[in-house]
Amino acid sequence: MKDTLRPAGIVGLGSQLPGEVVTNADLTKVLDTTEEWILTRTGISERRKASKEEAASDLGTQAALKALEDAGLKGDDVDLVIVATITPDMAFPSTACLIQHKIGASHAAAFDLSAACSGFIYGLAVGSQFVANGTYDTVLVVATEVLSKILDPEDRTTSILFGDGAGAAVIRPVDQGEGFLAFDLGSKGEGGDLLKLPAGGSRKPTSLETIKEKEHFIKMSGNEVFKFAVKIMGDAAVKALEKAGLNKQDIDYLIPHQANIRIIESAVKRLKLSPEKVYINLDKYGNMSGASIPVALDEAARKNHIKKGDRVVLVGFGAGLTWGSCVINWSI
Ligand code: UT7
Repeated sequence: MKDTLRPAGIVGLGSQLPGEVVTNADLTKVLDTTEEWILTRTGISERRKASKEEAASDLGTQAALKALEDAGLKGDDVDLVIVATITPDMAFPSTACLIQHKIGASHAAAFDLSAACSGFIYGLAVGSQFVANGTYDTVLVVATEVLSKILDPEDRTTSILFGDGAGAAVIRPVDQGEGFLAFDLGSKGEGGDLLKLPAGGSRKPTSLETIKEKEHFIKMSGNEVFKFAVKIMGDAAVKALEKAGLNKQDIDYLIPHQANIRIIESAVKRLKLSPEKVYINLDKYGNMSGASIPVALDEAARKNHIKKGDRVVLVGFGAGLTWGSCVINWSI
């Protein structure tokens, strides 16, 4: 470890989306819903669905390879792989170990992290500490979700909302004053029942009974999560800004968790941001949990919405309940 902390920042980004597109019209054929309800209540037009054979590590590996290429690095340069996911290939080994092997990160440490939709920001917070204190030079943070595999196809409140995808970021030392300026992470475990996968863990191992009760699928109290989200998105963004010695006016670009257009609009209103400073892609991909933010960040960067020196705010919330935000002085 170094005596003094060094600045850490994102130096490469990548994302991967599965090929199958599921439109709102497709969903009206199997669910009691309408295209208009889905679009007006969520802002989503379509989402992506992984194939039967595709798992979280497959999407995550592709996103990771693209992020490494973007950074001009190879798998062997990576010191640590952190994977944020709630849909791991299996309980163990970790999806991080599977990706570490597939990308040829032969000397890297690897572990998974579980913070649901806030997972990517938690991953950045953890990964950047290793770079800042000199333990590692190159940390790869991947958020990958195949939520379609844990959705109840008959549940119209969740099936319409979630999609599959993966995003990745490479963290390395950057110049003084650049990179991550502040993080705000939080949790509220008493809200855990609002969004959960009840069976398949040590509390309730999978059995014929749990399958009959559909407890291997996501259960969500959408409206309660919605109320929590509306409050926490603005609060968390402001807290990270305060920790960085900044305020709302200093935001050059906002990447919010892509959960529901009404949640994003309320956060944008609270932060008094003009729409061109906010990246929204949930119309195309739905809510990809932890993968939403890195996929949006990758797209925004590729479209040159973000430039060197911009103060970029990432903010998300999710099951746990958890939330996370960070302020970045963009360095690439
Ligand atoms: O990433 C973090 C994870 N989760 C979230 O961010 C979820 C946040 N919550 C939401 O996005 C919204 O709560 C939903 C989109 C899930 C639901 O929207 P809502 O406006 O909160 O609807 P609601 O649950 O209050 O339900 C209103 C009505 C109900 O009918 P009644 O009881 O008023 O007759 C629902 O049964 O809408 C009905 N409904 C639907 N109708 C047509 C619920 N889902 C649908 C549907 N199509 N797909």
